[in-house]
Amino acid sequence: MDVCTTIPDLRRAVGGLRAGGSKVGLVPTMGYLHAGHMRLVAEAQARAEAVVVSIFVNPTQFGDPKDLESYPRNTEGDLEMLREAGVQAVLMPQVSDIYPEGAETIVETERLAGMLHGAVRPGHYRGVCTVVAKLFNIVQPDFACFGEKDYQQLQIIRTMVRDLHFPLEIVPVPTVREADGLAMSSRNARLTPEDRAAAVVLSRALDAVEAAGGSVEQMAEKIRQVIATEPRATLRGLDITEARTLAPVTGHSKASLAVMISAEFGGILLIDQREITPQGAST
Ligand code: PAF
Repeated sequence: MDVCTTIPDLRRAVGGLRAGGSKVGLVPTMGYLHAGHMRLVAEAQARAEAVVVSIFVNPTQFGDPKDLESYPRNTEGDLEMLREAGVQAVLMPQVSDIYPEGAETIVETERLAGMLHGAVRPGHYRGVCTVVAKLFNIVQPDFACFGEKDYQQLQIIRTMVRDLHFPLEIVPVPTVREADGLAMSSRNARLTPEDRAAAVVLSRALDAVEAAGGSVEQMAEKIRQVIATEPRATLRGLDITEARTLAPVTGHSKASLAVMISAEFGGILLIDQREITPQGAST
């Protein structure tokens, strides 16, 4: 496995892989890898001979410097997991490589970045889009894998790729869950045992709404009720939108819906989502 700490190193490694005739898949991560990331890697390996994983805790997508500072890191453990999985190359750049002095170019989806989760975390998706655009230009993969857990991120990246004509495919990968239903996230490691136990309320709320169905307003009410049963949870965002466009919906929808929740547990913001297709609806 080539561990590349500079952009020229990575370009050389990818050049070698391409010269050998390999298709190249990219899995962008911020490290502290878990089974959810490894699912992205497995999906990439099923589609390409060569897989590149980037590990970069991107400062521009964090609003609060304390959140950035305390983001969990485990470089040795990450490299071990990727080596064992048979990944061909890892990119681990410095902040100054990705954002050289004087860097001022940003990439932002105008409508999608400011709504929903983006309204709770202003600037977050601008930081995501900017770094992902840079990673696409550095690695130049044939495709890149993104988890469905951050559903808004997935739609934003798809939109950016379409709008800026990036010559690559975006591959969505289903959320991997703990045995009790909690969506896997690097942030879970920062929860106290009590908050960890409480956080399962997010997937319980999504299960309840999927089972109950009803109008968009009834679904939203159901989620609020379930979250309210857990005193350790503070609901931060609740959005039910048309799944593909993230456009607002009301009443009984015939189209597939994206149900997106964010909630804090002891100051740690977690997200979860579910795509719900009403019976007889178009997908
Ligand atoms: O989903 C993530 O881990 C990050 O937002 C990403 C896509 C790696 C960009 O920093």
